[in-house]
Amino acid sequence: MKGMNRALIPQDTDWWCKSVVYQVYPKSFNDTTGKGIGDIRGLTQKLDYLKDLGVDIIWLQPVYVSPQRDNGYDVADYYRINPDYGTMQDFEELSQEIQARGMHLMLDIVVNHSSTEHVWFQEARLSRDSEYRDYYIWRNPAPDGGPPNNWISKFGGPAWQYDETTNQYFLTLFDKTQADLNWENPKVRQEVVDILEFWAEKGVDGFRMDVINLISKDQRFLNDDGSTIPGDGRKYYTDGPHVHEYLRELHEKVFAKYNSVTVGEMSSTSLDQCIRYSNPERNELSMTFNFHHLKVDYPNGQKWELMPYDFKMLKKLFSDWQIGMQQGGGWSALFFNNHDQPRALSRFLDDGEYHTESAKLLATTLHGLQGTPYIFQGEEIGMANPKWSDIEEFRDVESLNMYRILQEQGKSEEEALNIIRERSRDNSRTPMQWDSTPNAGFTTGTPWIKVDERYPQINVQAQLEDPNSIYYHYHKLIRLRKTVQVITDGEYQCLDDAHPQVYAYQRSNAQETLVVISNFSGQNAQFVLPDSLYSQFKNQASGSVELLIGNTKHAPELDQVITLTPYASYMWIFR
Ligand code: GLC
Repeated sequence: MKGMNRALIPQDTDWWCKSVVYQVYPKSFNDTTGKGIGDIRGLTQKLDYLKDLGVDIIWLQPVYVSPQRDNGYDVADYYRINPDYGTMQDFEELSQEIQARGMHLMLDIVVNHSSTEHVWFQEARLSRDSEYRDYYIWRNPAPDGGPPNNWISKFGGPAWQYDETTNQYFLTLFDKTQADLNWENPKVRQEVVDILEFWAEKGVDGFRMDVINLISKDQRFLNDDGSTIPGDGRKYYTDGPHVHEYLRELHEKVFAKYNSVTVGEMSSTSLDQCIRYSNPERNELSMTFNFHHLKVDYPNGQKWELMPYDFKMLKKLFSDWQIGMQQGGGWSALFFNNHDQPRALSRFLDDGEYHTESAKLLATTLHGLQGTPYIFQGEEIGMANPKWSDIEEFRDVESLNMYRILQEQGKSEEEALNIIRERSRDNSRTPMQWDSTPNAGFTTGTPWIKVDERYPQINVQAQLEDPNSIYYHYHKLIRLRKTVQVITDGEYQCLDDAHPQVYAYQRSNAQETLVVISNFSGQNAQFVLPDSLYSQFKNQASGSVELLIGNTKHAPELDQVITLTPYASYMWIFR
């Protein structure tokens, strides 16, 4: 690709630019054994469902051998399938069936850290002279015997674990059983290349790189002086000194060779960094996830404090990133949901009375933007946060750690539970709701995590039977992306940054203008189109306006003043 600005160049050279990705959390997707845990064959069984929906790429989350402290993000063997999920033969069958349907498989690669049960770590911890010692990050204790510095783990508590055998600490930015790998060591980087090649040879077309912007740590391992929030040490390892170099190495050795589609999960990153990661001229990754738009309800960046979300900030973040990535020639992974986030439907909109409108609004708003949209399992039927009142229902290591830590910090049991209910990653991890039979058709056994009790109303089968369902809304949006060029290449412009209820934007190329208008509030709203845009389609003799998709029975005319009912959302095109 020539030129830095993707908005000015043809987009179709990259096969994944018009794709939609579906994210599968295997543990909660479909259980064929009755063990209460989803499995690989369960996914294979549902491939026709995903194909019909219109999905191009299936992102399968970790199914490797793992003690499951962090549901597979703690890998103990990168080359074997966890028996709970099936066998390598099941995996190969899945890969072939995906290919046979013209879809692509994207694997989750977790190489910022491994499980402490990985044989590398088991060897490394035996002695300071072990040949695997340098696969991990070891430091001497501080003079007082405590951790080498004051960094805090993302799951709470110190980021260092003491190991008695060799009297040193090892770094763990996540759970204490997830030991950070030492990417400074060329042998580690070669191991990663080998892992990627192994899976690419099995027909895998893409890789989702877990927290990949954390792999290069500032080797000084300085204390965080707290001068920038949240002051937990992240400024010393986020988008670190050699990260781009390491990614270019992977690109050269693997991604380019296999024409892989790659998405990097970027923790606490910046727009400039994401342009660098994803601009095709730099030969690093195809696209990036960032999380700024999902922190608009964190007071002062604190995840474990509650506040109503800041709607204008949400719009501003979408706009800044759309414009910035477009100008810098980067490419975004678009998403509202994933396995680490509460359901956006419950978090930002109304999952009760306006359930269907809200779910469709989120979909339309996101799918009109530039980038590659990701659908997290169950989003396409409007799955919502479960309403649990007992800590016993929660499973996630982060939630359980924080429940304890919040109380140690002085919160009452009830206050701590309220925060966990809002913020827990388990909100999105409840089993997929297939039908109205017991346990939503997910398992014939006892599910590892409770099914949301609304499954008799919210399930796949019911939505397949209803032409106005959320499912068919996604079905249509996915097809629009394939046929309406401006969705891929149109220049982005926000239409009213200051409106307190409405998010409206336009996308335009030389032939077409797309207008997306969504009322994010439970009250009627009025929206006034800017004069320039209004006159553009009003005065053009040959042009015509078409409603591409909406979420109410009767859509208003695209006029200068538009009245929107609660959670109404429309996408018009003018050509
Ligand atoms: C990523 C994953 C998350 C996991 C963490 C550590 O953020 O999405 O689920 O816990 O990395 O691997």
